[in-house]
Amino acid sequence: MTPDIKPLVAGNWKMNGFRNSLTELGNVTAGYDAAMRNRIDMLLCLPATLIFSAAHVALGTRVQIGGQDCHFNQDGAHTGDISAEMIADGGGTAVIVGHSERRTDHGETNSIVKSKAEAGLRGDLITIVCIGETEAQRKAGETLEVLKDQLDGSMPEASTAKNVVVAYEPVWAIGTGLVPSVEDVKEAHAFMRENLTARFGSDGAKMRLLYGGSVKPGNAEELMGIANVDGALVGGASLKAEDFLGICAAYEKLC
Ligand code: 13P
Repeated sequence: MTPDIKPLVAGNWKMNGFRNSLTELGNVTAGYDAAMRNRIDMLLCLPATLIFSAAHVALGTRVQIGGQDCHFNQDGAHTGDISAEMIADGGGTAVIVGHSERRTDHGETNSIVKSKAEAGLRGDLITIVCIGETEAQRKAGETLEVLKDQLDGSMPEASTAKNVVVAYEPVWAIGTGLVPSVEDVKEAHAFMRENLTARFGSDGAKMRLLYGGSVKPGNAEELMGIANVDGALVGGASLKAEDFLGICAAYEKLC
């Protein structure tokens, strides 16, 4: 946690969910009570096919709906892509860019991620920029070097504490049940804070830094209690309202 930063718990459904999954979203909004709303911001990043209907379900609940990627252009001949403006048009208010699954599956480099992040800002979306080292990089002792490289290369110049969120997701911790030690998360987040403050001044000092990778109700309190961890980016456990709300409830205790 960082004093004076309202935490964000964001879910990433990845390529999961059909229209009937929106009942699960309804359960999340129902459980997001006034006490929780005052302490924690909540966002669910859904497959593009569900954004419009999900935004309708979430209307008036203060649960934000977002996308999981966007093209760097606003429109044009880019078969299969969607733009930040299209996410906003569907009722989305946020977008994830640079997730390791995009970097790996689609060959997205830091400069592509940066263009996408700039597109997110152009579309007036809260833009979550993901970074994180692979298992091999960690074993080689390169974690902080990789984080520096990704931050330097992926963050738009116009980043502020209001429009950009950074998510640290060690690739080896995603979907594996493995979680770095408290000391390792602390070191990575302190490093990110230092880097961002050096570059963006007071905005860097106030930017929300999320941890992601096998966050569950059972480990949320410990992870979220670490200095400079201002929320979570949750994959698998965001698919079930009970687990997602359980993570928020664990976090709420700390706020
Ligand atoms: P898991 O929570 O399933 O490990 O996924 C994390 C993630 O990749 C969120 O973007």
